[in-house]
Amino acid sequence: MSKQFDVIVIGGGPGGYIAAIRAAQLGFSTACIDDWTNAKGGPAPGGTCTNTGCIPSKALLQSSEYFEHAGKHFAAHGIQVEGLGLDLAKMIARKDTVVKQNNDGILFLFKKNKISFFHGRGSFSKAVDGGYEIQVRGAAEETLVGRHIIVATGSSARALAGAPFDEENILSNDGALRMGAVPRRLGVIGAGVIGLEMGSVWRRLGAEVTILEGLPTFLGAVDEQIAKEAHKAFTRQGLKVELGVTVGSVQSGKKGVKIAYSDAKGEARTLEVDKLIVSIGRVPRTEGLNAQAVGLQLDERGAIAVDAECRTNLPQVWAVGDVVRGPMLAHKAEEEGVAVAERIAGQHGHVNFNTIPWVIYTSPEIAWVGQTEQQLKAEGRAYKAGTFPFLANGRARALGDTTGMVKFLADAASDEILGVHIVGPQASELISEAVVAMEFRASSEDIARICHAHPSLSEATKEAALAVDKRTLNF
Ligand code: FAD
Ligand code: NAI
Repeated sequence: MSKQFDVIVIGGGPGGYIAAIRAAQLGFSTACIDDWTNAKGGPAPGGTCTNTGCIPSKALLQSSEYFEHAGKHFAAHGIQVEGLGLDLAKMIARKDTVVKQNNDGILFLFKKNKISFFHGRGSFSKAVDGGYEIQVRGAAEETLVGRHIIVATGSSARALAGAPFDEENILSNDGALRMGAVPRRLGVIGAGVIGLEMGSVWRRLGAEVTILEGLPTFLGAVDEQIAKEAHKAFTRQGLKVELGVTVGSVQSGKKGVKIAYSDAKGEARTLEVDKLIVSIGRVPRTEGLNAQAVGLQLDERGAIAVDAECRTNLPQVWAVGDVVRGPMLAHKAEEEGVAVAERIAGQHGHVNFNTIPWVIYTSPEIAWVGQTEQQLKAEGRAYKAGTFPFLANGRARALGDTTGMVKFLADAASDEILGVHIVGPQASELISEAVVAMEFRASSEDIARICHAHPSLSEATKEAALAVDKRTLNF
């Protein structure tokens, strides 16, 4: 006998588990199926984000930053540290505890919201009257029938052709988060978000890190001025980034990994490292879904094809998060999950793609929302820009972290904020004010007129808004 639900969510990452919670809040009988399994064979809901993505990477970024501060920056504050040492096993174990707390938190939320959780792989078997039959295989073996199906199966790391991940020498994000020792030489292919975050972690812990990037520009999607500032800071820290390379062969052996590549000038080079992280993007994950059984359409990238509202080609089947188009971000997945549950309930679920913030959690952090200066130029849009350096911010000086700036871009005529770009301390938190402002279609003058606490880093945001009108007060 199959179990019947109003809504079945396949995938328990941020897209899936949040969709399930919202569906349950709206009064639907809801199931969530997730196949992630922890080292003890138990369920580990939360997806890539919780298990091998956002959460563990931020735990290691924090620990490694403390280590770097203790070794390099405490002295400037008059704090003497002797006998500083690294217990990597403990650092990794702490990260695992943080992950486990998040897994458990999600299991608690399933119970609290009366969501039926199934630990196993969910796949379509057939369309049935008024819905779809879904098979669960794994720790749980069940046949479920759902009136609405939300697919939130996420993504997996893209491998370099000819260099499959072994998680020993050639590492995806998974292996990069659980090395048993700090490699003396670490290579990274791809100077994107993972490359910079994980490269920073292992450099801080003592590895000599070289990142090989295919594109000729550093962080091409980031506002150029901000990317330049970040590049300078990373170079000062000793993170080596080679741009415009073409990777040839990758040979992995007992002694490590040898990468043959040509540099920006086309000259042949080799890089020998102990470990190699490959972070060249991620691919939507649909294997195991048995999409063909019901004729669920994929697009040319292998993502589930959806419209602007996450509807697939099949009635009552929706898809959200990394498995569909758009940025691969946890908060984007969550927003889509909430919006889909609300649409199923006949409400007007809504995601504003123009105000999704991006954050790179390096030091300095990089965060932005809206358009970059190069995009505005390419569009031929008349704009005004204002920047304010953290060097002139009292709180940043007190913190001892004055790298970077806040930058505002506003429409030349209406003064509406078109983009805000930050490189510097706590950029991940500061960007929220800009997101709120843009959601309310605020002008830069609106921010400039708001009282900001003193001394705070957010005063740099106010000052950058004032700079749009060329009237900064502290610079
Ligand atoms: P996922 O989180 O991938 O979850 C999908 C889940 O579905 C998984 O548990 C998977 O096992 C399961 N699944 C797949 N197929 C089936 C099936 N057939 N049956 C049952 N279960 C199935 N984003 C940010 O916003 N901020 C960050 O700081 C950040 N850091 C990151 C760091 C790293 C190293 C990585 C790799 C990613 C990071 N991301 C970050 C991206 C973020 O992790 C993803 O955008 C997010 O997890 C996508 O959520 P999702 O729910 O779509 O998919
Ligand atoms: P990415 O898209 O951020 O960066 C990949 C980089 O690899 C690009 O710069 C690209 O030009 C380069 N590249 C691609 N193929 C190459 C090749 N053959 N040789 C050399 N360079 C090559 O992808 P990444 O870092 O793998 O991360 C995947 C996604 O995960 C991100 O796009 C983001 O959506 C998400 N993520 C988000 C984080 C955050 O929000 N802080 C943190 C980590 C990941």
